[in-house]
Amino acid sequence: MFNNLKLGVKLNLLLAAILLLLMITIGATLSIVIQGYAEEVVTEKALLLIETMNSVRNYTSTQVNPELASRLETEELFLPQTVPAYSSREVFEYLRNSDRYRNFFYKEATLNPTNLRDKADSFEAEIINSFRNDSQQQQQGFRNIPGGEIFYIARPLSVTKESCLRCHGSPEEAPASLLATYGTDNGFGWKLNEIVGAQVISVPASQVLEDARRLRLLVVGKILIFLVLAVVLLNVFLKFVITNPINEMSHLSKKLSMGDLDVEFEQKSNDEIGILAASLNRLKASLKIAMEMLDSK
Ligand code: HEC
Repeated sequence: MFNNLKLGVKLNLLLAAILLLLMITIGATLSIVIQGYAEEVVTEKALLLIETMNSVRNYTSTQVNPELASRLETEELFLPQTVPAYSSREVFEYLRNSDRYRNFFYKEATLNPTNLRDKADSFEAEIINSFRNDSQQQQQGFRNIPGGEIFYIARPLSVTKESCLRCHGSPEEAPASLLATYGTDNGFGWKLNEIVGAQVISVPASQVLEDARRLRLLVVGKILIFLVLAVVLLNVFLKFVITNPINEMSHLSKKLSMGDLDVEFEQKSNDEIGILAASLNRLKASLKIAMEMLDSK
């Protein structure tokens, strides 16, 4: 079957197979590389923000809290500015006031929070429970929410110090101002070293992923155009340098075989085709001499 095809068709079939393989390989490799790059971009953003929030938490507990701690005993209402969880959330809300960061989210999601805005939703509760069950230090991934695709990083929040239990242990021990502000129902009963929640940062990923897809399409498209152009050029080369001269020689040989001794095989080049033309010319000359010898007898 393959042997019955013309040279041009054979070559094009081969090229099509190579092209297909090449495009599949390039497409798959690009997918992995560009997807990896997009993930790196969003991971970098999320990590920077979560570390910044940890700095805010540190600042609050080492510099703000000592200044205001004494007022917690005397003021009627609680001063949430002394609490790292509060200050980091508030700082992040200021960041979100800017249009650029409106779709970024930060939450110290907790199963039993003092402030109900920190209550873990079902997705966050699942993460917290998995932190409780094994000793993972971080979870991350993409997630589809109504606003588009987001990338999140979550880290466990645990009760690291005995002093936390003053406000999160039992209501009897908590400052009166805390009870006056938050009541006695929420955020108590935590245990030392218990994982009570998760720091969750979410950054929008739709745009980055969309850019990555567009980049992949652009690169694959350009390579495809280049390869198709190469195939067209190869076909032109094949036609003028190989198939046309061979067709011409086979046409002349046919005439020669039928007795036309005046045919002329023109040698236009010094490549294999040219050498073949010269050989055929010599063959024709020998044939002519042989015929003349036969005629003269
Ligand atoms: C002086 C009281 C006090 C102490 C001590 C304290 N917290 Fe809190 N904590 C609070 C209050 C009040 C809130 C709620 C703040 C708000 O309105 O956002 C809170 C919130 C939190 C939250 C966010 C979830 C929630 O309950 O709303 C976490 C997590 C948390 N605290 C962990 C800790 C840890 C860990 C420690 C010890 C290192 C600690 N807290 C010590 C009073 C305290």
